[in-house]
Amino acid sequence: MRFTYYGHACFSVEIAGQHLLFDPFISYNPLAKDKIALESVKADYIFISHGHGDHLADAAAIAKRTQPKAVVTPFEVGEWLEKQGLKNVVAMNHGGSKAFDFGRIKLTAAIHSSNLPDGSYGGNPCGFLCQTSAGSFYYSGDTALTRDMELVAKWAPDLAFAVFPIGDFYTMGADDAVLAAGMVGAKKFVGVHYDSFPPIRLDRAAALASAGKAGVELLLPGIGESIDV
Ligand code: NI
Ligand code: MN
Repeated sequence: MRFTYYGHACFSVEIAGQHLLFDPFISYNPLAKDKIALESVKADYIFISHGHGDHLADAAAIAKRTQPKAVVTPFEVGEWLEKQGLKNVVAMNHGGSKAFDFGRIKLTAAIHSSNLPDGSYGGNPCGFLCQTSAGSFYYSGDTALTRDMELVAKWAPDLAFAVFPIGDFYTMGADDAVLAAGMVGAKKFVGVHYDSFPPIRLDRAAALASAGKAGVELLLPGIGESIDV
């Protein structure tokens, strides 16, 4: 699986030639807008963890161009996206899973909030467990550390990697993300949701030291960088 970082909590995972894009927020991100051409972002599928603008601001523009096979998101966010004209919306809810041609997606619990940019009710935020024949990974979405994550290790004992927010303030910070990696049984995780806004500036050295102490690998790819995971 190939992981590409687009800044903030936006990334894609390439599986067997298909691009799974998560939480698109690029052209509105001052750190990413000059590094990533929005028209170059591939998306055979789009996943949106909750209704906050820093997770879906570019969803409509990208979906219009790439015509994804599905836009998978919590129910209320999905209804809102359909009203914006998005097609192939798969509006699910927590605990539910669905098989796609690349593998199976399960919506997991997240402790956060969720309203849409216009103030509409966004339901509850989610994370995604993705299980494929090429490997499995878990993206927690914006969340606090929660013991619910221990279930991920039961559902997917073979987890190749995880993706966790590490910026603190709006979500868990790096120390809690290291604990989360232990709970889900991931030996490596990618840190996201940091540096984009003043309250979430990351102390990189401290974050890497925290992971190193726990024997977990913290990956911090640059914006636009791709890594094999
Ligand atoms: Ni959020
Ligand atoms: Mn966020």
